[in-house]
Amino acid sequence: MHLPDRFRKLWDELAPIGRDAQSGGYLRYGWSPAELTCRQWFGEQAARRGMAVEEDGNGNLFAWWGSPEQGDAVLTGSHFDSVPHGGAYDGPLGVVSAFLAVDELRQRGVTPRRPLAVAAFAEEEGSRFGVPCLGSRLLTGAIDAGRAAALVDRDGISLTEAMGGPPAGARLDLLHRFTTFVELHVEQGRALADLDAPVGVASAIWPHGRWRFDFRGEGNHAGTTRMADRRDPMLTYAFTVLAANKEARLRGAHATVGRVEVEPNATNAIPSLVRGWLDARAADTDTLDGLVDAVRKKVAERAARDGTTVAVAAESVTPLVAFHAELSERLRALLAAPLLPTGAGHDAGVLSAHLPTAMLFVRNPTGVSHSPAEAATDEDCAAGVVALSVVLEQLTCL
Ligand code: GLV
Ligand code: MN
Ligand code: MN
Repeated sequence: MHLPDRFRKLWDELAPIGRDAQSGGYLRYGWSPAELTCRQWFGEQAARRGMAVEEDGNGNLFAWWGSPEQGDAVLTGSHFDSVPHGGAYDGPLGVVSAFLAVDELRQRGVTPRRPLAVAAFAEEEGSRFGVPCLGSRLLTGAIDAGRAAALVDRDGISLTEAMGGPPAGARLDLLHRFTTFVELHVEQGRALADLDAPVGVASAIWPHGRWRFDFRGEGNHAGTTRMADRRDPMLTYAFTVLAANKEARLRGAHATVGRVEVEPNATNAIPSLVRGWLDARAADTDTLDGLVDAVRKKVAERAARDGTTVAVAAESVTPLVAFHAELSERLRALLAAPLLPTGAGHDAGVLSAHLPTAMLFVRNPTGVSHSPAEAATDEDCAAGVVALSVVLEQLTCL
């Protein structure tokens, strides 16, 4: 069977898991039944290939080709979890491609001199517990295990409850067995489509973060409260959305308010509380800091005029990631692929603080991502598998 057909066959095994029949998007939140089914599938794939699976106590899975004890290992893989109604490719493409790359290497008769591990990281999107790359942050110690344990989802379930016990936290013993990480991911933009290239290599990840804005006012009757007497937090919230958009545009940065909660959320009541999440990203830290500071300042002024209060909490902030220059350049030359930066966060960004890390991107014809419309052709996915196998052969046989 040709590689694009083999890709499709394996891809179709995962495709129904967690797919919403109405939107066609995925509901695969960390530790949800759908995501746990994907992890079970991971175990089956590993078993089919004679790879032993290790879980790190933080929800991250590792399937080993070769002995973990040997160290000096090469790591590849990505994540299964999705944003609400997300696309099929963001995450799973990197896991499926990793298993197919193992098959490619074996078919070519390659015997790695170093162990190779395929990973599935937990809660990369942070859609359930609010902190992106939660699994890789726990593994590396980038988030305190106690703080993570107490995170709660929208139903008030804590991470500890969802996991059935507290997370293990930093596993430096495991982390130190790896000397290189390469994550393959669907591109979340149109750069490769514009360049007419099926595969690219990442250069950097923009610094980015999530800030929660709690706007409080006075809940009251929509029909009887005079306009002049209102303390309506919805107004301050609405202003914030517009201010963030304006400040981002002025700086060539990105700002999004994609999640909002309202109390009491009634048509005929002035809200008492509006909670909105700002996702902000920029090419450099100064621009990002300037953007967030400007929004905070303008919003504080506006709140004073609205008679409301605003409290801002940074839920996660990820600094600029410049991927390992030598490794990325090696991959770029090996694959004759373009080098591109991204505004999307990845576990590779977290791991890059600890070991030489690189990323491969697979062309996305429309560039749409975090949406059911996210796409990649089977031929491009096969090209991604070949590229990953070439890279892994180089790295494991050195
Ligand atoms: C993850 O996909 C992110 O960039 O939010
Ligand atoms: Mn994503
Ligand atoms: Mn992803």
